[in-house]
Amino acid sequence: MREKLVAGNWKMHGNLAENKQLLSAISAGLNGLNGAKFAVCVPYPYLSSVQNMLQDTDISWGAQNVSQYEKGAYTGEVSVSMLDDFECTYVIIGHSERRTLFGEDSYAVAEKYVTAQRAGLTPILCVGETLEHREAGITEQIIQEQLTAVVNVAGIESFSKAVIAYEPIWAIGTGKTASPQQAQDVHAFIRNGIATQDINIAKELTILYGGSVKANNAAELFAMPDIDGGLIGGASLVANEFIAICRALSN
Ligand code: 13P
Repeated sequence: MREKLVAGNWKMHGNLAENKQLLSAISAGLNGLNGAKFAVCVPYPYLSSVQNMLQDTDISWGAQNVSQYEKGAYTGEVSVSMLDDFECTYVIIGHSERRTLFGEDSYAVAEKYVTAQRAGLTPILCVGETLEHREAGITEQIIQEQLTAVVNVAGIESFSKAVIAYEPIWAIGTGKTASPQQAQDVHAFIRNGIATQDINIAKELTILYGGSVKANNAAELFAMPDIDGGLIGGASLVANEFIAICRALSN
């Protein structure tokens, strides 16, 4: 059966003391919730302490980026085997902030995705359009290009061990959420596109929505048939918000 997932993307937020408070509140709040998986993707320096805090809970953890290279003279980079040392389950790949602010192109994104999978990590592959794309009516074309770049390098079968996150750039951190129907339309487009190549992989694929998901809009988004959970930025830093979002997905 298709897995449901809520993953927090802390971005460049947190400190040791705040993380501890946040995670103890979240692990208490999620205790006993069934029917979905929960995770936090944290800044690299906190992986070790987050691992310690979460290892006896049902909450998984991961990183927000990884190098496409296995090892070598790549100053400032972090490899998949390093993430593996801290027992990461997930790694976010190709977040729009990485693509736009740090110049990651589709090919680098595809390489990172492959490298992560090869190491046994589950990539959360982000795709999404800008407001200009949407207004020009080319949302589907943009999503298709972003997915094709990955399929060309990794193959369609790679989606049996990956998660896709649809994150419209105009909805990230803006308080403007895609309407449930707008999100559903793109999720269905993604799933149908994959189904044309492999129907079973498409059926089982977890597709998250990300972009201003909050406690007060999560349930209506998660009620859509092709939305299998969320990738949560700002609201993942507020324990009660994150817990409420997770509750909206679980049964
Ligand atoms: P917000 O939830 O803050 O809009 O961020 C979404 C996001 O970028 C998650 O990766």
